[in-house]
Amino acid sequence: MHIHRKRPWDLPEHAATPEHVFLNRRNFLVSGAAALTAPSILSPALAQEADPSTGLYPAKQNGRYQLDGRDITPEAVNANYNNFYEFGSSKRIASAAQALKIRPWTIRIDGMVDKEQTIGIDDLLKKVELEERLYRHRCVEAWSMTVPWSGFPLKALVAIANPAASAKYIRFETFMDPKMAPGQRQTWYPWPYTEGVTMAEAANELAFLVTGAYGKPLAKSFGAPIRLALPWKYGFKHIKSISRVTFTDQRPKTFWEQLQSAEYGFWANVNPQVAHPRWSQADEEVLGTNGKRIPTVIFNGYGEYVADLYKGMEKERLWA
Ligand code: MTE
Repeated sequence: MHIHRKRPWDLPEHAATPEHVFLNRRNFLVSGAAALTAPSILSPALAQEADPSTGLYPAKQNGRYQLDGRDITPEAVNANYNNFYEFGSSKRIASAAQALKIRPWTIRIDGMVDKEQTIGIDDLLKKVELEERLYRHRCVEAWSMTVPWSGFPLKALVAIANPAASAKYIRFETFMDPKMAPGQRQTWYPWPYTEGVTMAEAANELAFLVTGAYGKPLAKSFGAPIRLALPWKYGFKHIKSISRVTFTDQRPKTFWEQLQSAEYGFWANVNPQVAHPRWSQADEEVLGTNGKRIPTVIFNGYGEYVADLYKGMEKERLWA
């Protein structure tokens, strides 16, 4: 049975936006950034509701994680150019994402753990130390951004969960609520959004659970109240609005893998030399820079931290 699966990067070449239109749209994004900060039209993505975690930000910056000479992408650009399919398949979901209800918010921790538990986001925030990190983000669609994320290392959550030594993977799941999130009514997607990492990846110092950005609690369009950042992997691994974390000995089948395994695999490490089946990954457009393109770097420039994780795994499909 043929199932039509609609994704923004499914377009045939002839249907793609002409380049000059595409670049002008980005010009709008750049010049629009200043206008968007005017209070009268402050974008919904940036307008924060009263959030009980507001007092925790800005968190102290950890200077170890730098941007290799790139500037921080303006907040108004990032927070209004998102992939969050639960709220639609356009990049402009910031308004629609305001429907996301982020309190109360609980995270179920289950599977191969000593004791399954459900923890409220504000209780979790009390158990961890928040820090700010400047991270690069490379989407599989060949655009990139840089963000001051706040949050805590994923390994701190692993310590709270206390998994069995035989657990090999962590499976993450986003909330499921088609009434709140209209995208979840599109039944051809394998909702809820899921992602996964190995326990070794989870222990890597770069693996980061994000609860804030730009010195504030995370905006809804970024995947409030808690999302993942794995800066050496393509952006679709960075699951948003996490509501369940499961420790398992089975490799999780992820959202995009279920949808189109020929194009999106489990590992999804950034590699400029391995093209997507339908486009090159050699370079990337930096959001907020008038369409400037820069060469993409293996592991998105984080090889010194993560290359060892994949030694001896050359037979695996590590790059897409
Ligand atoms: N998480 C959920 N739950 N739903 C999504 O649609 N999109 C992914 C990822 N996490 C997505 C998600 C993709 S494709 C990317 S590139 C990043 O989120 C985008 O993050 P950003 O919107 O903060 O730039």
